[in-house]
Amino acid sequence: MSLFRLEGKRALVTGGSKGIGLAAAQDLIRLGAHVTIAARGEDALRRAADATGAQWVVADVSTPEGVRAAVQAAGDVDILVSNAGGPPPSLPSQVSEAAWTQGFQTTFMSTARLAEAVLGGMRERRWGRIIAVTSLTVGRPSLTLPVSNAMRAAVTNHLRTLALEVASDGVTCNTVAPGYTATERLQALHANPDDAERLKARIPARRFGEPSEVSAAVAFLATNEAAYITGQEILVDGGWGI
Ligand SMILES: NC(=O)c1ccc[n+]([C@@H]2O[C@H](COP(=O)([O-])OP(=O)(O)OC[C@H]3O[C@@H](n4cnc5c(N)ncnc54)[C@H](OP(=O)(O)O)[C@@H]3O)[C@@H](O)[C@H]2O)c1
Repeated sequence: MSLFRLEGKRALVTGGSKGIGLAAAQDLIRLGAHVTIAARGEDALRRAADATGAQWVVADVSTPEGVRAAVQAAGDVDILVSNAGGPPPSLPSQVSEAAWTQGFQTTFMSTARLAEAVLGGMRERRWGRIIAVTSLTVGRPSLTLPVSNAMRAAVTNHLRTLALEVASDGVTCNTVAPGYTATERLQALHANPDDAERLKARIPARRFGEPSEVSAAVAFLATNEAAYITGQEILVDGGWGI
């Protein structure tokens, strides 16, 4: 058997039309998996599908209906990459009730519902990979991303707990925590070039990461070779969290 191959596996990558999710879809396809990408915006999905060969579905994973639509379109999911947009910035003392609720649905409940929806089939087939894209903020909270800090920590510990339950069924549950990665989200958060340069100077690697550097960790966790790694977080952050 050749190393790091995923022929015959079906993957669902949510938030798969852009950035880190798109890079993850590309990597999984390159390894031989059949991939479905899900997101809200149809245009970006179409462009991503044309570029990668992924199947696509419009689905908002912050809702139960969106999760159902994504999982139904993907078929028997062997590899779940749970990913979506990050919560908007604010100060921790100023988070509105609506922002907490939205963050809970988009970041935490999306992962909990997606995992629940795919787990039965994975356990039956005795093979599965549940991977959530979280953030460096799990270990080092960012002052201006309070909802992200809280919800990513919840996702991390939920998947660690789930890992305990399903480890003997051939299903692994892990998280990949990106540091500052050059995507649309990062551009939106740090639009000012001086701000971006100041930030890079504080990263031990002195640069932003590439989406493909984050997706490489996601793809590795999806392989047979990663079968004995579960309940873990892989930081891909250029040394920020050291
Ligand atoms: N980039 C960074 O520096 C960085 C650092 C730490 C953590 N992260 C986290 O990593 C994740 C991916 O980041 P990114 O930079 O790749 O983001 P991005 O470039 O903004 O891409 C986000 C993707 O998620 C989709 N999406 C957003 N909300 C969704 C929803 N409710 N349902 C389904 N799809 C949804 C977007 O498409 P639609 O808008 O069309 O739905 C898009 O495909 C985010 O959670 C982000 O917070 C990023």
